[in-house]
Amino acid sequence: MTKRSDWRQETLAIHAGITGFPERGAVTPPIYQTSTFQFKDTQHLNDVLSGKVEGDLYTRYSNPTQRAVEKTLAALEKTETAIVVGSGMAAITTTVLGLLKTGDTILTTADIYGGTYHFCHDFLPRFGIKTIMVPSHEIKDLESAMTPETRMIYVESPTNPLLNILPLKEIAELGKRHDCITVIDNTFATPVNQTPADFGIDVILHSATKYLGGHSDILAGAVAGPREIIGTLRKTLRILGPTLDPFAAWLMLRGMKTLAVRVRQQNENTLKLAEYLKGHPKVRRVYYPGLPDHPHHELAKKQMRGFGGVLSFEIDGTAKDAEKFVESVEMMAMAPSLGAVESLITQPVTTSHRSFTPEDRKKAGISDSLIRIAVGIEHIDDLIADCERGFAGL
Ligand SMILES: Cc1ncc(COP(=O)(O)O)c(C=O)c1O
Repeated sequence: MTKRSDWRQETLAIHAGITGFPERGAVTPPIYQTSTFQFKDTQHLNDVLSGKVEGDLYTRYSNPTQRAVEKTLAALEKTETAIVVGSGMAAITTTVLGLLKTGDTILTTADIYGGTYHFCHDFLPRFGIKTIMVPSHEIKDLESAMTPETRMIYVESPTNPLLNILPLKEIAELGKRHDCITVIDNTFATPVNQTPADFGIDVILHSATKYLGGHSDILAGAVAGPREIIGTLRKTLRILGPTLDPFAAWLMLRGMKTLAVRVRQQNENTLKLAEYLKGHPKVRRVYYPGLPDHPHHELAKKQMRGFGGVLSFEIDGTAKDAEKFVESVEMMAMAPSLGAVESLITQPVTTSHRSFTPEDRKKAGISDSLIRIAVGIEHIDDLIADCERGFAGL
């Protein structure tokens, strides 16, 4: 008989956060759509504020619906605790501003998410925080870029849009050797495919807009980690104020209940679609860590339970051909974002990497004919048929 402490991810996603809602026997927790909370008397207020009894003061500080999501995410990511915030960017900015100070340096790779890139490049220098972006995923290159001022190693794995994989255990060890906090944006992998805490990574953040929410209907973010670090970030969140609205928190909680089944279907669909594309005469190259010829396939097998729901491929043609492909598919929506039940298709050259110069795009390995598909949970035959329409349009 399994004990509560032995629950698996599928069970935790449904039950971990849904405790302490015995009022009126509702099976799903209510949405506490309230900005503030009232107290019976001053003693009650003092008990809540001192943490003697569980309670809430004001929704920018905490809210029971947010707490249910936080408990669920911490259980899935195997961390002590978590916070939820209003977007993935809020998770990133709260983490960096909460943990670093003037004079500190962040070490990261050159292919981080565009919003994070601009935050590090254009915003943080105003506060005297420097970022070193290493154009490599090799631990030796990261290590040789460390300086005495490096206080945070910040990574994504898999990366966007070429799905490179970084060695998480070695990165965690590098951080420990240099007394640096290690942070991962785990949005692309999700805790279903990868739990970075297993490898010693300190802080795990998400754009919950993507897989955690899973239905393209909310903007949300989350940060999971040790109690002490998350406590600091909660204080930062209270000051900066990127609160997750209780209704969005409730939608996120609802989305997370089906995370495991959705992600497993996305893993399966994406691998099949990658194999189909790889065998297509009009495709030059497919980027998916689940394919044996991906440069990081062995590493992905070691640290991931599934290879994720995003793939990229190069049409054997020009940027115009790639444009014709994305305009000829019917079911897949031409839209940024990823991680939802419906498949989305984009050309990185016109979306995520639009602001790059052609030279910088080339350096990042993003060709003009690259197409990214964020695969949903539709039937694989219908996804392949949609790609056939894309090829027919060339
Ligand atoms: C990997 C990654 N991190 C963070 C973000 C930012 O998330 P949000 O749009 O929820 O602010 C995105 C958005 O596309 C992303 O892809």
